[in-house]
Amino acid sequence: MTACPIIIDCDPGQDDAIMLLLSLASPDELDVLGITTVAGNVPLAFTSRNARILCDLAGRQELGVYAGCSRPLVRRLVTAEEVHGKTGIDGIEITEPITPLSDIHAVDFLVETLSAAEKNAITLVPIGPLTNIAAALIKAPEIAEKIREIVLMGGAMREGGNTTPSAEFNIYVDPHAADVVFRCGRPIVVMGLDVTHQVLTTQARLKRIKALNNPVADAAHNMLAFFDRHDVQKYGSDGAPLHDPCTAAYLLQPELFKAKTCNLEVEIHAELTMGHTAVDFWQVTDRPKNVQWVHEVDSDGFFDLLIERLGRY
Ligand code: BDR
Ligand code: CA
Repeated sequence: MTACPIIIDCDPGQDDAIMLLLSLASPDELDVLGITTVAGNVPLAFTSRNARILCDLAGRQELGVYAGCSRPLVRRLVTAEEVHGKTGIDGIEITEPITPLSDIHAVDFLVETLSAAEKNAITLVPIGPLTNIAAALIKAPEIAEKIREIVLMGGAMREGGNTTPSAEFNIYVDPHAADVVFRCGRPIVVMGLDVTHQVLTTQARLKRIKALNNPVADAAHNMLAFFDRHDVQKYGSDGAPLHDPCTAAYLLQPELFKAKTCNLEVEIHAELTMGHTAVDFWQVTDRPKNVQWVHEVDSDGFFDLLIERLGRY
């Protein structure tokens, strides 16, 4: 089996961090062509530094990290330090990374890499606001046919919003970018809160990560132990939802997930419900089906996979 070429677009974020560690531990299946960063959980300078710290941690200093857009297409930037801490990856020690930051802009990297590829060749895995992906599609619409699939984290239907009553963070931060991406005409798999809220970092699962007893698993454990506290209080759950790693887990073991082909459109006009993802789950309209809406996961299987991969470090 040849590894699937992917570009990860992220805003680390502890859950982004775990997604990066899961992907980088899986070179037989995932060929990470580059990591692009966007403003989201914390401002761009922090998300870019954090992505480089994670490359250091994974021993992958040769990977290209490309900083992208520092604000959403239209709206002002909203960040989430209350969840992720001031650095975005609170829970581990922050030092100046060795992995360099490329001087190529993320949008140019996306456009150049996709332009040079065959049709249907590259999978995009966005796990933050969709600003960079939308900007690349606007700059060079012809790259769309080079995208094999987009597997993204964002949106909510049955679970309601985590940032407003209607909207999930990634879509809320840049709803206009999300609108561009959902209309791009390529296959899109969506990991919204309906599925990510089934993947909880329970105390028992955190103990299993800690017990791996290697430096990367220790860092993962310490980040998650910090990440945990906000959502445990918010939801009254045993652990926090581990949103972003669902994308990588889907690429590695799609059989863990159940999805339905649906129409999804983003609210970009009404302030009250801004960034809401209207998912036509019961097919009550004849609007075109543009996404695979993921709604169920085998969460024990997910953690078995994650823990096995973290054990490889
Ligand atoms: C999403 O928002 C961010 O805080 C997380 O990193 C994740 O991508 C969950 O709503
Ligand atoms: Ca994220």
